[in-house]
Amino acid sequence: MHKTGSLTLDLRLTLASILALCSLVPQTAAERGANGRGREEQIMRNAKAAEVLKYMNPTADPCNNFYDFACGNWSQYQPELREGDAPISVQTQLLQRAQKDVQMLLEGGVRSKGRPNLDERKVKEFYKSCLTVERFSTLQQAFLMNFIKEYHGLPLLAGTNWNMNYDWVQVIARLRLNYGFDFLIGMEVENNGKAVIQLTEPTTSLIPRHLCSAGAIVEAKDREEVTAQLQTDIAKDLQTWFGLREEETERVGGDIIRFEFELCRYMREEESLPPSEDENTEPQVYEGHDLTRLSKQFGHIINFRKYLETSLNSTVANTEIVMKSQRYFQQLAHIARSNPRPTLTNYIMYRALSEINLPRNETSNPRAGYCAQLVMRYFPKVIGEMYKNRYQRSEIRSNVEQLFADIKETFGDSLNVNDLSNNAQNALRNKLLAYETLIFPTYKGMNLRDLPLEHTNFWHKQDIAMKFKGYKERQRFYGGDAELDDSIVQAYDVHMKLLDNGIMTGWGLLQPPFYDYNYANSLKYALLGPLIARELAGALIPDAQQTELTRDESILEIFNNVTECYRMQYSNYLYNIPNVFYNATKLRELMTDSAGLNVAFQGYLRWLSSMDPINRPQLLRETLPGVDFTNTQLFFIVFAQSRCHAKYMEEPPPTFLPLDTHTEELFNVNGVLANNVEFAREFGCALGTDMNPDDKCTLF
Ligand SMILES: *[C@@H]1O[C@H](CO)[C@@H](O)[C@H](O)[C@H]1NC(C)=O
Ligand SMILES: *[C@@H]1O[C@H](CO)[C@@H](O)[C@H](O)[C@H]1NC(C)=O
Ligand SMILES: *[C@@H]1O[C@H](CO)[C@@H](O)[C@H](O)[C@H]1NC(C)=O
Ligand SMILES: *[C@@H]1O[C@H](CO)[C@@H](O)[C@H](O)[C@H]1NC(C)=O
Ligand SMILES: *[C@@H]1O[C@H](CO)[C@@H](O)[C@H](O)[C@H]1NC(C)=O
Repeated sequence: MHKTGSLTLDLRLTLASILALCSLVPQTAAERGANGRGREEQIMRNAKAAEVLKYMNPTADPCNNFYDFACGNWSQYQPELREGDAPISVQTQLLQRAQKDVQMLLEGGVRSKGRPNLDERKVKEFYKSCLTVERFSTLQQAFLMNFIKEYHGLPLLAGTNWNMNYDWVQVIARLRLNYGFDFLIGMEVENNGKAVIQLTEPTTSLIPRHLCSAGAIVEAKDREEVTAQLQTDIAKDLQTWFGLREEETERVGGDIIRFEFELCRYMREEESLPPSEDENTEPQVYEGHDLTRLSKQFGHIINFRKYLETSLNSTVANTEIVMKSQRYFQQLAHIARSNPRPTLTNYIMYRALSEINLPRNETSNPRAGYCAQLVMRYFPKVIGEMYKNRYQRSEIRSNVEQLFADIKETFGDSLNVNDLSNNAQNALRNKLLAYETLIFPTYKGMNLRDLPLEHTNFWHKQDIAMKFKGYKERQRFYGGDAELDDSIVQAYDVHMKLLDNGIMTGWGLLQPPFYDYNYANSLKYALLGPLIARELAGALIPDAQQTELTRDESILEIFNNVTECYRMQYSNYLYNIPNVFYNATKLRELMTDSAGLNVAFQGYLRWLSSMDPINRPQLLRETLPGVDFTNTQLFFIVFAQSRCHAKYMEEPPPTFLPLDTHTEELFNVNGVLANNVEFAREFGCALGTDMNPDDKCTLF
């Protein structure tokens, strides 16, 4: 067993030896705890200790594969996965838990603290009607047929008035106006006094994201498998929705998928291709009154004025328009011209219909969970407020705010690294100051009073709800409704997000196994610390938009070098070739993740050093009963265990092909830890072992 190796910090040596001594004494008076809180804490500590131990695989070598050491037995305690099941992780479990909690709130099983108001009643009624709606009924049929007619028909279905003059730009613009759908054309709107519209690739696709990109290294076999499966799914949907025959739907399914694959070829370039010097990829800016020039660039296939004015229900003459993805739009114009009109129609209408209809398989996606998701999607604020009233606690709030302050301060100190000039350090420190505090969602009250959700069937209710969401999103363009932005993260969310003046966190995240008020600081720093520090790191790493930071050349050069370091490391890890991995989003994530862990650990050491070594009960709490690791080792184990995962595999990859066992999920633990200098010291890993490589990449 690897135990604490040579410690360079005197302070930690003292603490660690005190802790090591204390851990030999099974229970002290302080631990037995006389009052209720003490007992509660004791129960929690025992449970957490048992949990930590049962997920570990003590036979694994922590210097060879720490993931296996910390998470080796995790999947044995999860439901068995079958083919087609989604992978599970601690994160997805937390998400499911939050969703279950929302379900309970909606079912009235748990009374929310505030008095039930009109909004809450309306939303609960929506949920109830979703639970009980029949899957196939004449009501549904009638609704779908009307919907299709309203959006100019579907060639497959006689009597829906489809004709050869079908104007696809008009249809997607109206779908955007009414429902906020971003089929074929993506759009982001900002309004800080003057509206700026960015034309982008759509954010969603039928084909999974990793296969839908310009550089997707997709083996023909993979692609065929995915295509075949999606084609069958689409065909089945069309058969069940409209009672169509298999032959015609199979063909349509194939057309739809082929069409999207064509679109994918120019999507997500920055996530899959080397950075381009080509000026064609630079965003171009147009004035709203000059849209003809823009349309002309794309051979007049896409009428941008019509698209924007229809989808925003407003003139855009005085708006600035930024074209973000030239090449995607060129491809869109190209395939819109070369594909038969029915294919375009089928693609657009299939995507719209699959947003409206109930999920294909209710065994794998039970109704109650689906309905809770719908309610969260359409009425995030009402649900968020209910969740907040039920789960917020002031003592937790101040506890986590303190943690945030500590991490931020540690971060400021840790900027004293690399070859950052003093100027650069000051610039980054100043930037850090802007993030004042941890922010919790607040709700000023939504008003659904005028939303006629009662006295109608589910399909109409849902239509009203979808339109309401589309309307809310559109407010961003008009610059009104500041309320729209005050909860980007909802109370039930299980993540944090960086805002202009702080980091917003959902209450859903502040639940076990990520957080418990009674957790020791070794656990709190290991679990929430990296999440906070990661967001802050994200704020400091320049991207194309952060011009004031990138003006300092020394910062830019260091960031570019470190990015390159991660790119080579990760490329080698996955493919054993240094130059094939280009996903810029992922590289940023690796950098911020790594910085997050480093800063969180420093923050923990800093807290330890502020403790009086005489305060033994307090320090004793930093380990777990019966867990034979020091508090600092526990930090890394618990960090790793917050990233355990499991996914279905027909058979485990053979160990004699090490590359086959190298996965993204594994790297998210092993790679991040291997770049941390203290980790190797804590577990006594010799230089050159897998977990202590000599070519580490570090930023902060
Ligand atoms: C952990 O996994 C190993 C190997 O699969 C097994 O032998 C051992 O019993 C497991 N330990 C626990 C505590 O589940
Ligand atoms: C790039 O990385 C991000 C973050 O991990 C991921 O969500 C995305 O799917 C990746 N893109 C592609 C095209 O694989
Ligand atoms: C579009 O604007 C007109 C005039 O302002 C308004 O009457 C109409 O309701 C709006 N349509 C939508 C869908 O918001
Ligand atoms: C639905 O999902 C379940 C569980 O994943 C599976 O056993 C079943 O075959 C699926 N049914 C259909 C119709 O796809
Ligand atoms: C960045 O990398 C280049 C080329 O490897 C090297 O010459 C330069 O010194 C590095 N800069 C910094 C600040 O590390």
